[in-house]
Amino acid sequence: MPLRREREETSKETRKPGKENSYLLSYSSLPVAAPSSVASTLSVFSWRGWTPSSRVDDMDGSDQEQRAWSWRVEERSDNKALGLLYEPGNWGDVLKGTWAILLARALARQTTDTPFHYLDPFAGSATYPLTASAASRLEWLGSGPFVIEQARWLAKNELASTGLLVREAALSSAAEVTLEVFDTDPRRLESWKDTPGAQIASASGGEDLLKGGSTANLVLVDPYDLFDRWRELSPSIVDVARSSWVLLYLYNKSPRGAGYRRNYRDFRERLKSAAGEAILGRVPSDLFLPRAYHEVVLIGPSTLPEELSRDLLRATKNLACKMSTTGSFERLS
Ligand SMILES: C[S@@+](CC[C@H](N)C(=O)[O-])C[C@H]1O[C@@H](n2cnc3c(N)ncnc32)[C@H](O)[C@@H]1O
Repeated sequence: MPLRREREETSKETRKPGKENSYLLSYSSLPVAAPSSVASTLSVFSWRGWTPSSRVDDMDGSDQEQRAWSWRVEERSDNKALGLLYEPGNWGDVLKGTWAILLARALARQTTDTPFHYLDPFAGSATYPLTASAASRLEWLGSGPFVIEQARWLAKNELASTGLLVREAALSSAAEVTLEVFDTDPRRLESWKDTPGAQIASASGGEDLLKGGSTANLVLVDPYDLFDRWRELSPSIVDVARSSWVLLYLYNKSPRGAGYRRNYRDFRERLKSAAGEAILGRVPSDLFLPRAYHEVVLIGPSTLPEELSRDLLRATKNLACKMSTTGSFERLS
């Protein structure tokens, strides 16, 4: 990627004309050699704007504000069902997807079980429409496991869920992959029905699928609100981690005050006492003045193979480094 002046590489908080208090990170001037498929999406999608309470990357359920963010995609009828609390393709998805891909590749290589079994009790939709800001973000990122593995969906103006990324990644080494998925939202659940290897689990909530252990090779625990719900879920999570690798996604709100910080400290202590391995990756929620962190925590039954540990460390540091150095120097005039 060619180097340009720091000013161009620095994201900016901009106000969209006519949308008071609308905050949006703009990367419009970022120097990116974008794949043409990604670049072409930029003309297709546009933002309707943000209400003051609908911030990018802010999925903080405790603010008691209505998170009525909306987006506009070319096919307007697609908008009705979206109703999400966060923007697919945010930095947390990049971090989580990166870890899931590296884990799936490595674990599928090692496993003797067939098929490779992935359990996602809070699976969301199989795919999401690609928004302009997610496209810009990936364009700016340019490379890495997440961008590479997403390529075929980006070409269709879509983003793959973590489950689909895991399937792709595991298929590079396993002959067959089973995705056991569940979501309380029936439309999201329905979206999995044509995915090869997907099995829609029967449950009243994703929590049910974590009870009584699991035989899956990899389990993703990614409800919106693990930061607020970990105490209730942790006995099952720790139990599952005795036999399966479990990847947790956490929106860490510790920078917002002492209560959040104490909650986070307790969460860490709880996981430290889990059997086997517990490792963690972290990136800021935004390039500019982060108010939270995106974290992934991997816990499992044994020590992680060294090569996989190294790959996770390298990919996480590359992402964190790129994000934090971008916001570290600005020319204001
Ligand atoms: C963050 S999204 C999942 C994203 C997905 N894991 C991925 O990485 O592509 C969280 C999902 O959990 C679902 N959900 C919330 N509470 C649930 C519950 N108790 N059981 C199952 N799904 C639930 C929501 O409908 C939402 O689709």
